[in-house]
Amino acid sequence: MSAYDLVAKRASIGPKLQTGDDVSDAELEKLYEAAMTAPDHGNLNPFRFTVIRGAAREKLGDVFAEAALKRGEDQAAADIARTKPMRSPVLIAVIATVTPDHPKAPPIEQVLTAGMAGYNMVLAAQATGLAAIWLSGPPAYDAHVLASLGVGENEQLLGFVYVGRPKRDVSGPRRADWRKHVSEWTG
Ligand SMILES: Cc1cc2nc3c(=O)[nH]c(=O)nc-3n(C[C@H](O)[C@H](O)[C@H](O)COP(=O)(O)O)c2cc1C
Repeated sequence: MSAYDLVAKRASIGPKLQTGDDVSDAELEKLYEAAMTAPDHGNLNPFRFTVIRGAAREKLGDVFAEAALKRGEDQAAADIARTKPMRSPVLIAVIATVTPDHPKAPPIEQVLTAGMAGYNMVLAAQATGLAAIWLSGPPAYDAHVLASLGVGENEQLLGFVYVGRPKRDVSGPRRADWRKHVSEWTG
């Protein structure tokens, strides 16, 4: 598949369409390498990734459940939250590490770079035959989750890339018409 086709036919593959089989370190390293090529004003590498896999997913599930209860959700909702990290063999937390007063790259540019780094991982997963989807949900914005994962001041948890193996080829959803999103400025 050409690089163009990869992007033009890109599709997230969520946990329901993943087999549950594990992913090797060598396969994950390709994702990290791809992340490092994100466009980056000032060469700040304003991101870091925290990998959660194996039994650590259960611990993260406990944190999600505690967080749900702290937010005032009921036990049933907390029990559902607990299962979330178990849906894929590997979760990669995408964390923007922002330098607040950088002379060239304002915070929004740094967060964008972190977002592109995460996107590169999703794309690289597809390119290398893996399955991935970026999910956030309430846990990504929850103080208890942030503290448990060690997300610090000047950092933002942008969500989790859930990585696994695809059950089958997946075609993306029908896309919006680009014509509604492109205009030309002529002065
Ligand atoms: C930062 C970010 C957070 C997201 N969080 C969620 C989420 O919590 N739940 C969800 O269903 N999709 C979420 N998505 C969207 C999915 O990753 C995915 O793009 C969507 O299911 C559409 O599939 P597609 O990527 O094949 O177009 C998120 C995407 C991004 C970029």
